[in-house]
This record gives sequence, structure tokens and C-alpha cells, in this order.
Amino acid sequence: MTKKTIFSFNEMKQAREKVTWITAYDFPIANLAEQTGIDMILVGDSVGMVVYGYSGTIPVTMDQMICHAEAVRRGAPNVFVIGDMPFLSYQKSVEDAVANAGRFYKEAGVDAIKLEGGERVTPQIRGIVDSGMVVVGHIGLTPQSSAQLGGFKAQGNTAEAAMALLDDARAVEKAGCSMLLVEGVPPETGKIITDTLRIPVYGIGAGPYCDGQLLIVSDMLGIFEVFTPKFVKKYANLADVIRQAFQEYARDIREGKFPTHEHFYKMKEGEADKLQELLKARR
Ligand code: KIV
Repeated sequence: MTKKTIFSFNEMKQAREKVTWITAYDFPIANLAEQTGIDMILVGDSVGMVVYGYSGTIPVTMDQMICHAEAVRRGAPNVFVIGDMPFLSYQKSVEDAVANAGRFYKEAGVDAIKLEGGERVTPQIRGIVDSGMVVVGHIGLTPQSSAQLGGFKAQGNTAEAAMALLDDARAVEKAGCSMLLVEGVPPETGKIITDTLRIPVYGIGAGPYCDGQLLIVSDMLGIFEVFTPKFVKKYANLADVIRQAFQEYARDIREGKFPTHEHFYKMKEGEADKLQELLKARR
């Protein structure tokens, strides 16, 4: 599989070919994504909730993100991987934003970074792009500012709010974003943004008209049970599969059914008898 580039994604938008995008945080899932031809992987700061069990993304650090991005890169060397800038890794200054985006590139070998916000983060977007990196914007329901948004609530659901989001979308495109993610908006809002922008616009909970779709892997595989957003479609119920496996494993151990012959290592020829003799000689 040849790795896609921002040019591939622009061509796909022109050809109206949908892009497939999931999050991943570790080697095995990234490897399965690569094997199945998923186009892009986001190493999302959603790792804070779905892997670390925090109630939001705020506590996630750059060091945590780098570890997960490195694992994903090893699992999916041929997939376009995007590192998600965690809270306060870019908001304080353009210098901070460039340095932390650079860490993703230098330490984890990502293909792009993503950051949340519209007009107000355009200086950071310009700084990172001017340093030669690829930036993916993220507007709408932006989890890092959920306190300002009054919680994890749908955005852009009035005509005025939709137009304000369109202004943000235009601003981040002008600042140099190569792609944009729109989260938690009605389909009408997702559509006007997708139709207006030249760059590819992808959606998570933004309706069917976007140039591609993203889902959080733990939601779509049914492994994260704390809450499930309305926009999630569960393609598997791994929580049930895992619970059943754990119960069976525990039962097998308790009933002496595991381990059995096929799981044993073998003593070298004649060594089992010799061991008994050595043991007897010691007594
Ligand atoms: O961190 C993440 O996975 C994200 C998605 C919620 C879009 O940013």
C-alpha cells in the first residue's frame, strides 16, 4: 500500500471519493487499520478519555501523545498519520505551537498535526505551516474548549452559528490548513463548509456531505462504555467479546482446563528423568 499525501486527499475531494479515517493509539490497532486500507489515522487526544480514563482531554500531555504517536507510526508505516496537539501545547504562543508540532514530526514521524480552533488559532497555524509542517484544522464541537461551549454539545445548529463556523473554516483555510475536521454539527452546516472550502473537509458527527468521515476507534468497536455520542455507529461490540473471553479464561483456570498440553514447553530428551534423579540425590 502506498502512503497517501495531501495531494491524494485533494484529488479524492475533486473525484468525490470519500476518505476513511479512524483514531488509533497503539501498535495493533494501527496495524489493523493499515491492513484494511484505512486512509488516515488520528492519534487523538481522546486517548485521555478512552485509554487513560480521564473525564476529558484537558490533562493529556505532549509526552503521552508522542508515546502513542510513535506506537501508531510503527504499526502503520504506510498510513497518513496525524498527531493531535493536546491542551496548552499550542494556545500559549506561536513558538510553543511550532516546537510541539515539531516534536510530533521529529520524535514520532507523523505526516500532519491537528489543532482545535478557528480564527483565534490562525497565528499558530501560520507559524507551523511556515515551518514546513502540514496542519489539519478542527472546528465545531472542540473538546478542549468544551467548558466554554457549555459541555459536549452540538454546534452550528442555528443559521447564524453555522455562518460563524463557516467564517472560522475560511480563516483556517486561509491561514494554511491542508484539511479541516468539523465535529458535532448538523448536516446542513457540514455541507456548506464542505462545499465552500477548496481543502478537504472531514466530519465526525457532521453529516454525510463531508469529504470523508472520522470515528473514534474505541466507540466504533464498542469497547468504550462510559458514554457514546449520538453520531457513533458501532461496527462491533468488543466489550462483550472481551468480557466473555475473561470469564472463560477465569473458569478454565479455576477448573484446571488451562494450561494444557499444547501450551507446555518441552524438557529436552531424557532431561525429565535426569531431573528426578538429581532431586532424589539432594534428599
Ligand atoms: O482526539 C480526538 O480523537 C479528536 C476527535 C474527537 C475528533 O480530536
